[in-house]
Amino acid sequence: MAFADRDRRYANSAIRFPAGVGAPFIPGMAGYVDIHAHILPGIDDGPEDLEGSLSMARAAAGSGITTLVATPHLRADFPNVHIHELADRCRALQKAIHREQIPLRIVSGTEVALVWALDADDEELRLASYGQRGTDLLVETPSDVTMIDRHLYTLRAKRFRITLAHPERSRQFQSDPERLRPLSEQGVLLEVNAEALLFPRGSATRKLAEHLCRTGQALVLASDGHGAASRRPVTGLADGVPAASALVGETRAEWMATAMPAAIIAGETLPEPPELETGRQVPSRSDPFHKVKSKLSRLRCEGPKPSRSSSF
Ligand SMILES: [Fe+2]
Repeated sequence: MAFADRDRRYANSAIRFPAGVGAPFIPGMAGYVDIHAHILPGIDDGPEDLEGSLSMARAAAGSGITTLVATPHLRADFPNVHIHELADRCRALQKAIHREQIPLRIVSGTEVALVWALDADDEELRLASYGQRGTDLLVETPSDVTMIDRHLYTLRAKRFRITLAHPERSRQFQSDPERLRPLSEQGVLLEVNAEALLFPRGSATRKLAEHLCRTGQALVLASDGHGAASRRPVTGLADGVPAASALVGETRAEWMATAMPAAIIAGETLPEPPELETGRQVPSRSDPFHKVKSKLSRLRCEGPKPSRSSSF
């Protein structure tokens, strides 16, 4: 889909960014929406300092991401993540991003461990949710998924819509992918890390990621970025979109990286999914054309460069 077409679709669509923590939506900006990234400085395993966060923001914007959710781990082994500080930390980072004139909107979120979520009170869960709006939670796939359906049911009973982060990384799901089907049928949204689609052929993670895309169970792509270019770079979202296109068709792959994640962070009704187009050959990192396809994908997302006098 050409950039102009997508821009027009956004302008006419119901995708909006209502009240919540994050900078206001800037009309005319359209691109990838990354609902899973560790960009806040110095509190989890993302960038160590503000400079690292700004480098990551530049890389994200350069790859075609226009909105990115800061999702630090809410987990016992990251004691510096304090739920009541996250809104202020996001605002501070957004200000720094504005100062640097990087065209990227930051939204508050978290990646919650199930253990943390089941222990949290209603207000803590609201603060952990996308935009602190109390509608949508990103839940990390636990290392042991034995009781996951029951635990997610508990959260859903509190009226949260759940997005499950990177189920393709679970060894239990890898050995029995059908365990995921009841979850997706119950309305749990499966988020696949786009980078997983470019892992070596034969990788169990890549196999499950591809299976979830091909069968239509995966509804969202994200970067799960931890830096600009280091382990799991934020650019992995844009890099993985061509691979997803080869699995499900370009329209659906773009939908998984734009309209779907935008609806999740806005707490809106999910947009109608485009038809699955399966059966094409999947590229790999060794594919000499992959970099070209990835670059073309990014170019399609790049809008007009912000001027020095713009609100960014
Ligand atoms: Fe993560």
